[in-house]
Amino acid sequence: MNGSPIWHYGPFPRVYVGPLDIEKIKKIVEYKKVLILTSRSFLGSETLNKILTTVTILKSQVVLVSPNPTWLDINQHKSNVGDFIPDVILALGGGSTLDTAKILSISMNTKNQLSDVGNGSELALETRTIPLILIPTTAGTGAEITPFASIWTGDGSGKTSIETIEMIPDFIFLDASLLSTLSPEQLLYPGLDAVSHALETLWNKYQTPVSSRWAKQSLELSINCLPSILDGNRSKETLTDMLLASNMAGIAISDSHTAIAHSMSYPITSKYGVPHGLACSFTLPSICHQLLNEECVLIPESDLVKQAGLMLSDLRLPQLVRSYMSLEQCLDLIPLMNTRSRASNYMGRVDENSLESLIQASFKT
Ligand SMILES: [Fe+2]
Repeated sequence: MNGSPIWHYGPFPRVYVGPLDIEKIKKIVEYKKVLILTSRSFLGSETLNKILTTVTILKSQVVLVSPNPTWLDINQHKSNVGDFIPDVILALGGGSTLDTAKILSISMNTKNQLSDVGNGSELALETRTIPLILIPTTAGTGAEITPFASIWTGDGSGKTSIETIEMIPDFIFLDASLLSTLSPEQLLYPGLDAVSHALETLWNKYQTPVSSRWAKQSLELSINCLPSILDGNRSKETLTDMLLASNMAGIAISDSHTAIAHSMSYPITSKYGVPHGLACSFTLPSICHQLLNEECVLIPESDLVKQAGLMLSDLRLPQLVRSYMSLEQCLDLIPLMNTRSRASNYMGRVDENSLESLIQASFKT
């Protein structure tokens, strides 16, 4: 094992896998004041209706979350919630909804406006006292289990991330039926994010015996199920595997964090709007090749990593990226790609030359 000899993992919430167990939810929220966070598309959904019609809730308030929330949005939600102090917070949605719920769950007692304060802020020192239930409706970000929440600054400078284990929820429900109506893109981009999280753990200096095992398990699942899903397979088993791959990769990065591919992706998303899952994955085959074949760095599960690289090469991701930006535009972003907190986790070389050759190689494929 490389990296710090001091490491930790957990805590773990109770994770329920399978058709949404309304009786279980009922036990947690019945006769309680519930703050519900969801997106516009899930507001009138069968799932939410089923919860609301089956469970007797003392009082509820709904927060509608838009994609890519900013700190301004978070403050607006907080002021809309006003004096309503819930007994339970329940979030049903994608990464944006879950991250917003996580931030609100630790800031219900904070009277101040929340701001773009980043990691290590006072917000990260808050204690969560309200039980939190997270139900993801996409598979890939792992947001339901990570201690991170990423919020856009709103000034075009990208995202800031809050990290605290207080945001790890108490209950997670992984129900594959929530994914069955997603478009191929809505399945592809988060799915790629999960693959990226697993690979970024395996070539991470700070991986631990636990995080690398979660990453391996995740990758074994996603290598099989992601191409199958993109071929049109929407079986419950396959979609459940993708949810599990996402969840396991989320546990893996919770301890070791991400690395070079994510570091490179941030300016790409911020400047050209390339979806996160695509931005942090189109370079992965080139990173695999450079690390294993050129630099010959020893990493765990190298055969599996190579398999993942081949699977991603078959998806022709650079073609999708080219519709957002050119090779030249991507090369111009190199000075912004070496984020210390992420790139320094990488076991391979990180300098302007290696970043340039990674981008050149990625765009060639
Ligand atoms: Fe990611």
